[in-house]
Amino acid sequence: MAESASAPARLMRRATFRQLEIFDAVARSGSFSRAAEALHLTQPTISMQIRKLSEAVGMPLFEQVGKRVFLTHAGRELYAACRELFRTLDGFEMSIANLRGLKQGALHVAAVTTAEYFLPRILGEFCQRYPGIDVSLEVTNREHALERLRQNLDDLYIFGQPPHDLDVEAVPFLENPLVVIAAAGHPLAGQRRVTPERIAREPFLMREPGSGTRLAAESFFAARGLSPKVRMELGSNEAIKQAVAGGLGISILSGHALRKGEDGLAVLPVQGFPLRKSWYLVYPRGKQLSVVARTFLEFSLRQIKNKC
Ligand code: PGA
Repeated sequence: MAESASAPARLMRRATFRQLEIFDAVARSGSFSRAAEALHLTQPTISMQIRKLSEAVGMPLFEQVGKRVFLTHAGRELYAACRELFRTLDGFEMSIANLRGLKQGALHVAAVTTAEYFLPRILGEFCQRYPGIDVSLEVTNREHALERLRQNLDDLYIFGQPPHDLDVEAVPFLENPLVVIAAAGHPLAGQRRVTPERIAREPFLMREPGSGTRLAAESFFAARGLSPKVRMELGSNEAIKQAVAGGLGISILSGHALRKGEDGLAVLPVQGFPLRKSWYLVYPRGKQLSVVARTFLEFSLRQIKNKC
């Protein structure tokens, strides 16, 4: 019983992988001469290999009608088995390429400045997991990150709001609540509730043009028919924090930019805040992500999920 069950497999052991490739080419093209052409072999070589394969199987695989060859029943069975085998081997080759890709490679990420409070940690964990990969992180404001995206300079981008005028894939990544901050001793800091009209009368420290945080602040005020009293423009979250702590005014920034118990700053309980935003992992739609980039994308989504 066991004998007969393993008999076909033993038969096929006498067949070679090359014979199966030749058989597959003939079956697909329905012609010995076209298969010979495709495989850069002579027609007698093709015929001989198919004859040997038929002998190994113990049945004819093709029948000739005129100039065309057709699969016999046994031939159809073998063709299905070949397709399955080649699919499996393709999958195997892809896994090997992936393994190689993750042993060495490069990853270029560009991120808006607010992401610098969490992204380097995730990149650090990624580098530990895949030490052969060179990682570069470009931290810049929204406008510059958009320009890099237009020029396709990086593998992945992180934005506070997905770009609306570009055809991209945007994967929501992590919540990014925007808050209003003032100096710890500010008179509004002790209040239970502060209206948007009230903060519009305070000196406001604004991020530079091109900043996504600035866009969010501007649209918050504009939606209420208000305009903030901009006292100063500053080019980074850290500069904003220092200036706010120094009593120069109030501002809006990502809650992630505040460290717990950070001296000198208070979050104001302004109606409508926190503004509930989210960071997005972005790349041009249709872009073939490298193995490294795809692995990083999945890795970072997993890390965030595990931590939240
Ligand atoms: P940015 O980043 O203010 O540095 O541009 C935040 C964002 O785009 O939401």
